[in-house]
Amino acid sequence: MNTRLLLLPLLFAACAACIAPARADDTDGKTLFAKNCAACHQATGRGIPGAFPALAGNTFVQGAPTDVATVLLKGRGGMPDFSGSLDDGEIAQVLTYVRSSWGNGAAPVTEQDVGSTRAALGVAPATHSRFGNKH
Ligand code: HEC
Repeated sequence: MNTRLLLLPLLFAACAACIAPARADDTDGKTLFAKNCAACHQATGRGIPGAFPALAGNTFVQGAPTDVATVLLKGRGGMPDFSGSLDDGEIAQVLTYVRSSWGNGAAPVTEQDVGSTRAALGVAPATHSRFGNKH
């Protein structure tokens, strides 16, 4: 019996353990988007022309993480702010999802990016429940 074959299941188990957290993050970003953003920007990220801008193929969305985070922390025009309902980690997750979905290909946004933007803007910390939607 080849002992290397016996090691294979162990390798698979180790691999599954290291992949699982990354998958969970993607799922969270998608769930957060569905609950908090899709009503306006649509699940396709294409928005509704004349009312809600498309996030798919949007250069601003794929630009500086702090600029994009500012829109969520302060709101803008007809866009509500999510500073109270989403914490820094959740804003990072939903923006990372938006920046890497529907053909977008920008780098992830980190919790630290959002935290430093929140501090710079003087916006109070979130007082939310997980996956909360205040709207
Ligand atoms: C009630 C509708 C509504 C919801 C919900 C909403 N948005 Fe928006 N969003 C808008 C509108 C309207 C604008 C355009 C604001 C402006 O510039 O006047 C906008 C703009 C943006 C922009 C800037 C786009 C650009 O080209 O400048 C980003 C990024 C964005 N939204 C992301 C999100 C994310 C992520 C969520 C969920 C956490 C979300 N929005 C939820 C309505 C909404």
